[in-house]
Order: sequence, then structure tokens, then C-alpha cells
Amino acid sequence: MKKVITYGTFDLFHFGHLEILRRAKELGDYLIVAVSTDEFNWDDKEKRCVYSYEERAAIVAAIDYVDEVIPETSWEQKESNVKEHLVDVFVMGDDWEGRFDFLNPLCEVVYLPRTAGISSTEVKTTVKNRF
Ligand code: CTP
Repeated sequence: MKKVITYGTFDLFHFGHLEILRRAKELGDYLIVAVSTDEFNWDDKEKRCVYSYEERAAIVAAIDYVDEVIPETSWEQKESNVKEHLVDVFVMGDDWEGRFDFLNPLCEVVYLPRTAGISSTEVKTTVKNRF
């Protein structure tokens, strides 16, 4: 069985999120998604989410393409996740192009093009301006 892993915040789940999960699943048979915890978002990324980790993880877990959700709590966990979960393919959006090439000795590293014209940040701004 070919295992794929990907990472993200997935706040205000949108079509760009669905598309990256669909394409990630196409690269294998079993898709693991590491969803960043609220502490990790705030402490390391200074990013405040609309939805809590529990809510974001539940939404991602309900997506047909997703087989397993794990928490992302640090930048450093990627190597151990790949080893522990026997991951074959590591997938990130191409906004991260090149950043995870160091995992290449352990697994295939794939950067998928982002879906144009949408992001959680943009959804927040649009909603705020419209209503
Ligand atoms: N992603 C994508 N296309 C988009 C938005 C996100 O392919 N239009 C991918 C990202 O590259 C990442 C995953 O979805 O691999 C989760 O991204 P995340 O950072 O949670 O989503 P964004 O909408 O980019 O959030 P933000 O605006 O807060 O950065």
C-alpha cells in the first residue's frame, strides 16, 4: 500500500484545500493529513484560526480522500512522521517548493500547484468586507 502525507492548517475549509487533498490521494492509496494545532499556529506562525483544531481536524477527517488525521505540533516532526507512518510520498503545495527536499532520501517529495485565487486569508477578508 502506497502512503501519502500532507500538512496544513485547513481553516475555513475551501475548494483549494479539497483540490490538494484530491490530488494528494491520487498519488497513492492511503492519505494521512497532519492538521496544525492551535498552539502551533499561534506560537510558531502567529496565525489565529476561525475554527479550533478539533473542528478543522473533524472537517478534514470527513473528506472522502482522507484516511487518517494526525496533529501537526512542530516544524521538526516531518521526518519522524515519514519514518513512523512508513510514508512513500510527501506532498506540499508549491508555496513550499524546495523547502522539504531534505526528506528525499526517505520518500518521494512532491509539490503540487496551488489552486489559483483562493486562500483562508482571502476568505476572511472577503467575508469581512462584504458583510
Ligand atoms: N492550498 C492549495 N491551494 C490554495 C490554498 C491552499 O493548494 N488555493 C494548499 C496549501 O498549499 C497547503 C494546503 O492547501 O498545502 C493547506 O493550506 P493552508 O495554509 O491551510 O491554506 P491557505 O488557504 O493557504 O491558508 P492561509 O491563507 O491562512 O495561508
